[in-house]
Amino acid sequence: MKDLIIDNEEAMVGAGKMLGSTTKPGDVFALVGDLGAGKTHFTKGLVHGAGCESSVTSPTFPLLHEYLQGKFPIYHFDFYRINSVHELIDIGWDDYTETDGICVIEWADKFPEIIPKSATWFQFSIENNGSRIIQKINSP
Ligand SMILES: Nc1ncnc2c1ncn2[C@@H]1O[C@H](COP(=O)(O)OP(=O)(O)O)[C@@H](O)[C@H]1O
Ligand SMILES: [Mg+2]
Repeated sequence: MKDLIIDNEEAMVGAGKMLGSTTKPGDVFALVGDLGAGKTHFTKGLVHGAGCESSVTSPTFPLLHEYLQGKFPIYHFDFYRINSVHELIDIGWDDYTETDGICVIEWADKFPEIIPKSATWFQFSIENNGSRIIQKINSP
């Protein structure tokens, strides 16, 4: 995938939707980037693109959001406020990453060691003019 330049939040949702419409059970998406870079808007598009019209917000408590109305379950994590991998192991991390749903993980680079090797990594950055850039990257 080429780098995408995203000029507004609707276009960010649109980029997520494109990915969501082609995603398959077992896919894991690891999202990296500063606060406000657009990870949650992208996730919203991804969830909608996979056929689930739920509202999408960053999970804090509980530690994940489950979107269950689409073609398959989508599990949405945000590592921003998570202090140790044990918090994730305690809620059954492996059950989520090893099922037939898909996982989307914001701030995945906080605990790269627990992200499955098969994951697709995306970096989100903010340009000086306010545009966002999405780049596919290798796992850190
Ligand atoms: N091109 C853009 N793409 C996505 N969001 C944008 C863009 N330009 C401005 N924004 C704003 O930036 C914020 C992105 O928020 P969010 O998706 O929650 O980011 P993150 O989850 O990475 O912290 C929103 O307030 C949104 O309105
Ligand atoms: Mg977010």
